[in-house]
Amino acid sequence: MTNLKGKHIILGISGGIAAYKSVVLLRLLVKAGAEVQVVITPHGKEFITPVTLSSLSGKPVISEFFTANTGEWHSHVDLGLWADAMVIAPATASTLAKMATGVADNMLITTYLSAKAPVFVAPAMDLDMMAHPTTSRNLATLKADGVHVIEPEVGELASHLVGRGRMEEPEKIAQALDAFFAAEQTLKGKKVLLTAGPTYERLDPVRFIGNFSSGKMGYALAEEAGRRGADVTLVAGPTALADPIGVKTIHVESARQMLEACLKDFSRTDIAIMAAAVADYAPKQCLDHKIKREHDGIENIELVKNPDIAASLGQLKTAGQMLVGFALETDNAEANAREKLLRKNLDMIVLNTLADAGAGFGTDTNKVTVISQDEKIAFGLKDKHAVAADILDCICKNL
Ligand code: CTP
Repeated sequence: MTNLKGKHIILGISGGIAAYKSVVLLRLLVKAGAEVQVVITPHGKEFITPVTLSSLSGKPVISEFFTANTGEWHSHVDLGLWADAMVIAPATASTLAKMATGVADNMLITTYLSAKAPVFVAPAMDLDMMAHPTTSRNLATLKADGVHVIEPEVGELASHLVGRGRMEEPEKIAQALDAFFAAEQTLKGKKVLLTAGPTYERLDPVRFIGNFSSGKMGYALAEEAGRRGADVTLVAGPTALADPIGVKTIHVESARQMLEACLKDFSRTDIAIMAAAVADYAPKQCLDHKIKREHDGIENIELVKNPDIAASLGQLKTAGQMLVGFALETDNAEANAREKLLRKNLDMIVLNTLADAGAGFGTDTNKVTVISQDEKIAFGLKDKHAVAADILDCICKNL
């Protein structure tokens, strides 16, 4: 674990029995050369003493907003700026809920809300709490906010029940952080152009032809490429997602607008990734008034073909530029993906199929196979942020 050397890490500890494992995690991080500041919740201190933690980290442990006898204020803002990463292990159901909703009633949550660096959580709780819809909802919110979730294991819990909720082992948590830093800056100096989300093709002022794409995969790729140091332009169709931090996001509605925005940037692009689910057809005309059920007599809609953005860029592509497409298939998946790889002059295609549970539109997870002329790598079902990292690893390898 060489990538943790010199890194500033906030280790957040909340009140769960797995807090005893945080001591091992702290030891591993310090041994790997990281500078660690422990922030512990009042309940966390019931499980593990600050003396143990400050001895291992070489820094006073922070728990309260003020030191009681001196009145010294602990600045969560400064801490948030100091950190290269924050890892909360264990993250209890209560801490996850507070993070998801912004209930800033302790130093750990105020620090989380001020953190500019990436945040990791390692949930730990009893199986019923883990399986509760509230916890799932809070974890989904945190993932959407860009928090990296280090999934808990299935095993024996403090209650002696066996199930999902056991905090991941400290070694694995430290490795996840190490891998995260290893991937940093691999795209420094590169310009990345991304498309994401659906396109909407207007029929009239209130209706459109579109699809179920949520944009989550493309946005995760934009965030990950930005984190690796790339200069990212994201051309996004209509989605409910917040613009990724540090990414130039251009909002468009239709396939034609998406093509136009891409053409403006493409000549300066090193890597273009076409993750959008572009509507292949648009209504021949968009009426300027709402189509009325009785009066307009429309029973058939005449459609015209939309431009193929990936194929258009494929034709313009010059040596040194890399073009990556996606293929979401329902049948003959690999053959269809390979056909698109050739037809659109792509260098790589990311195949996902609706036949795989948890893959495709709207979900937080995806299962992809990355295919190029001479390589095929199949990945397992993962969170879309982890999938984005896998895809960019493949791209970086082929640069
Ligand atoms: N794509 C694009 N412009 C289009 C259609 C698709 O840029 N008008 C891109 C997608 O972003 C994706 C790849 O092409 O990267 C494949 O998209 P897909 O919809 O699977 O391809 P189509 O050529 O539309 O094929 P199909 O007949 O399966 O819809």
